Amino acid sequence: MGAEVHGTQEFDKKKRAEIKFSDAAMAEVNEIISHYPTEKIKSSLLPVLHIAQAEFGGWLSPETMDYVASVLKIKPIEVFEVASFYTMYHLKPVGKCVFEVCQTSSCWLNGAEDIVKYIEKKLNIKVGETTRDGMFTLKTAECLGSCGTAPMLQCGASYHENLTYAKVDSLIEKYKNENRLRSYTDKDYQNTL
Ligand code: FES
Repeated sequence: MGAEVHGTQEFDKKKRAEIKFSDAAMAEVNEIISHYPTEKIKSSLLPVLHIAQAEFGGWLSPETMDYVASVLKIKPIEVFEVASFYTMYHLKPVGKCVFEVCQTSSCWLNGAEDIVKYIEKKLNIKVGETTRDGMFTLKTAECLGSCGTAPMLQCGASYHENLTYAKVDSLIEKYKNENRLRSYTDKDYQNTL
């Protein structure tokens, strides 16, 4: 039943029992929930999923989605429907740093395709793949709202704009040295122009 609800991935009851927000994450979740009346609690799902993704390894496993459903007291299928709709939620394991390169008009006209090819070569992966060391995943994205500074990519909460090959090199170096999971909830995000 769980496997049907969550697609093709097996649902593991034992793993599910081990998933629990840290106190700090739970406090954040409660703060978000407090903004909504009980009957509208589902409205808190997007930010709560971001916290869950950051908290549980950068992706939303069936067990994590099930846990989020139990915290919000909604059905697991309601969580899955939302999580599977938005590209910002990862339903399979990803690298610590997910590069999302915008490929819409402005970025495309300003060389996004070449940037993608360059990253592919540099990291020795194709779009949709993760490096063997688990450090980087490469994705493409639709317009990320930074068209005036194209081409650009997003990594966690940070935007990297006016990309050149040299900028890509230093980004990869920087993230490698930091060696930590980047998420949409990063408080120390940086936008580099
Ligand atoms: S077209 Fe790339 S950010 Fe809008």
